[in-house]
Amino acid sequence: MPRVLVTGGAGFIGSHVAEAYLEAGWEVTVLDDLSTGRRENVPRGARFVKADVGSAEARRLLASGDFDVLNHHAAQMDVRVSVSDPLFDARVNLLGLINLLEGVREGGVRRVVFASSGGVIYDENAPLPHRETGRKLPVSPYGVSKLGSEYYLAAYARLYGIEVVALRYANVYGPRQNPHGEAGVVAIFGERLRTGRPLTVFGDGSQTRDYVYVGDVARANLSATVWAVSDITEVDSFAFNVGTGVETSVNDLARKMIAVSGVEVSIEYAPARAGELKRSALDCGKALQLWGWKPEVTLEEGLGRTYEWIREAAA
Ligand SMILES: NC(=O)c1ccc[n+]([C@@H]2O[C@H](COP(=O)([O-])OP(=O)(O)OC[C@H]3O[C@@H](n4cnc5c(N)ncnc54)[C@H](O)[C@@H]3O)[C@@H](O)[C@H]2O)c1
Repeated sequence: MPRVLVTGGAGFIGSHVAEAYLEAGWEVTVLDDLSTGRRENVPRGARFVKADVGSAEARRLLASGDFDVLNHHAAQMDVRVSVSDPLFDARVNLLGLINLLEGVREGGVRRVVFASSGGVIYDENAPLPHRETGRKLPVSPYGVSKLGSEYYLAAYARLYGIEVVALRYANVYGPRQNPHGEAGVVAIFGERLRTGRPLTVFGDGSQTRDYVYVGDVARANLSATVWAVSDITEVDSFAFNVGTGVETSVNDLARKMIAVSGVEVSIEYAPARAGELKRSALDCGKALQLWGWKPEVTLEEGLGRTYEWIREAAA
């Protein structure tokens, strides 16, 4: 049975990824410090280790020789926290990654699949949808830590022959998302609808994002795990956008969520937040071409499933 260590597997995306590996017959260990994740998110059938990615314990675990693949989802993933405390961001996201990669090297782990972000590394003035080879210009320390992580992966791949894949996610949404992340808007709107409160939109609501359902993201992780990695000539060689290519405005999202929930609430407008990206969408043609991967869950369907989960979880 192939063995994978999923970091961040008590969190939103990582828990779905761990589940997908279990369903595909993998032996799964989850490593998470439970800073934003929850023990009950870890799927039944997975072993759980509570540890920080920067700890000696995490490195030793990987160095044990017990794993074929590291799937790395643990992160400080709040853009605003990265601006207010860039040292903390770099400690978790960069030093944490390097600590794990040292364990990977020592333990002969064959492959690393890394959760990167397509929402924060590309130049926002480059044409949409962004392709993997598009211009990069992260504006937040979080974006720098994600792109920097990809360069560390490239270096370890070239130095030690480790196979690496980076998944550059769009705005991921779905069950188990906590409302404080990069794409927390679906979780926030869902909670407001459940409790019958108005939805607050910052700015005029015309800002767009590319929303991808977490089940589709979990499937992309399995593709990334079995893909035949070829020569790394640049950092984009092993990077894959994972989104839908579709731009959805916040106004549109709010209206769709009101419709799927069947709850009539008003939409209120508040001043735009400084530094917020105006538009975003990812071209996912590479994943389709090389993996046959494409998103299968429509936004309406995904929002419906998510709202259903929010109601059940609260009940
Ligand atoms: N949600 C999105 O739309 C999105 C978009 C792009 C990239 N990502 C990336 O996907 C990954 C998962 O994000 P998520 O939305 O599931 O967030 P999340 O907060 O639900 O999951 C992160 C998990 O990592 C754990 N963690 C945090 N710091 C840790 C540490 N130092 N040691 C061990 N565990 C630690 C948390 O407890 C949590 O369980 C992150 O790397 C994030 O940057 C997410």
